[in-house]
Amino acid sequence: MLALETTNLSKTFNGKLKALDKVTLSVDTGHVFGLLGPNGAGKTTLIKILLGILHPTAGTAAVLGKPLNNISIKQRIGYLPENHRYPDFLKGGEVLDYYARLAGVDKPSRQKNKANLLKLVNMEKWEKTKLKKYSKGMLQRLGLAQALMNDPDVLFLDEPTDGVDPIGRKKIRDILHHLQDKGKTIFINSHLLSEVEMICDQVAILDQGKLIRTGTVEELTRPSKTYRLETSPIPNDTLAKLKQLSLKLNEENNFITLTCADQQDLNAIIDSMRAENIDIKAIIPHKQSLEESFIEILTKDVVN
Ligand SMILES: Nc1ncnc2c1ncn2[C@@H]1O[C@H](COP(=O)(O)OP(=O)(O)O)[C@@H](O)[C@H]1O
Ligand SMILES: [Mg+2]
Repeated sequence: MLALETTNLSKTFNGKLKALDKVTLSVDTGHVFGLLGPNGAGKTTLIKILLGILHPTAGTAAVLGKPLNNISIKQRIGYLPENHRYPDFLKGGEVLDYYARLAGVDKPSRQKNKANLLKLVNMEKWEKTKLKKYSKGMLQRLGLAQALMNDPDVLFLDEPTDGVDPIGRKKIRDILHHLQDKGKTIFINSHLLSEVEMICDQVAILDQGKLIRTGTVEELTRPSKTYRLETSPIPNDTLAKLKQLSLKLNEENNFITLTCADQQDLNAIIDSMRAENIDIKAIIPHKQSLEESFIEILTKDVVN
C-alpha cells in the first residue's frame, strides 16, 4: 500500500516563484524515504503541502490513500518541523503532554506514551528540566518523541539531524531504525547526504522544485569504474605510461587511484605494472557515495 502519493504537484509563491514544479512521487508503507536537495529546493514546501499546512497551486496528493482535505488522516501523522522552537520555559514532559493534547490524545495514552517515548529517545532523566537547558541534540530527540506521541503511521521529519553533533546523529539514526522495524513509514527531508545514505532505503532528489531523480540508495550509488590499488613504489617513467592508459590517475604513497573506461583497460594497466615488476598488493573497487552521485547529478542537470 502507498503511504504517500503526489501527482504533478506544483506550488507557486507570489504568482511567480515555482517552489514545486509538477512533482510526482510515491512512497510505500514501511519505507524510510529521503527527500534530498540543496537549500531552497522545495523540500519543506512539499512536506507542508502533505500535512495540509500549505495548499498546492496545482496537482493532487494523497496520504494513506486519502486526499489532502481528509481531516481524520491527520491523527495518523507525526511531524517534526525544521528548526522547531518549543517554548523554552516548558519542561520536556510538558512539551510532550501539550502537543499530544493538541493532537487529541487521551490522558491515559498520553501518560503511557510519554513514559515509553522518553525512554526511547533517551531523555527520561530530562523530563522535569526546562528546555532552555537542552542541547540541540536533546531538543531534536524531544521533537522526535513529540512527533510520536499520537503513535502515527507516517512520520514527517524535516532536517531531523541538522545542527546535531555526530553522537547525537547516531542516536537519532538508531531511533529511526527502531521505528522502521516497528513498521512506520518515515519521510525525511535532508540536505545532509551522508545521513540519508545511512538511514533511507528510497531516495528522491529535488532541485529548484523539480524532482530530478528517484531510486534506491543502491541505484544512485552504482559502483563506478574507479579502483584503488596498493602497490610497491612506482618509478616516474612507469607512472607516466600508466597515466596514458587511464582516464584519471592519482598517486599517493603506495596507493594509486585510477578510473578506467572498462575491465579491459584495467587489465592493461595491471599487465603494464606487472611487466615492470611492480607488486600489486590489493585492488579495491571504489563505490560512489551518495554525495558523489548527488553532486554529479546536480551539476549534470545544470550543464544540460
Ligand atoms: N511562505 C513562502 N512565501 C514565499 N516564498 C516561500 C515561502 N516558503 C518557501 N518559499 C520559497 O520557496 C522555495 C523553496 O523553499 P523550501 O521549501 O523552504 O526549500 P527547502 O526546504 O528545500 O530548503 C525557496 O525559494 C523559498 O524561499
Ligand atoms: Mg527546508
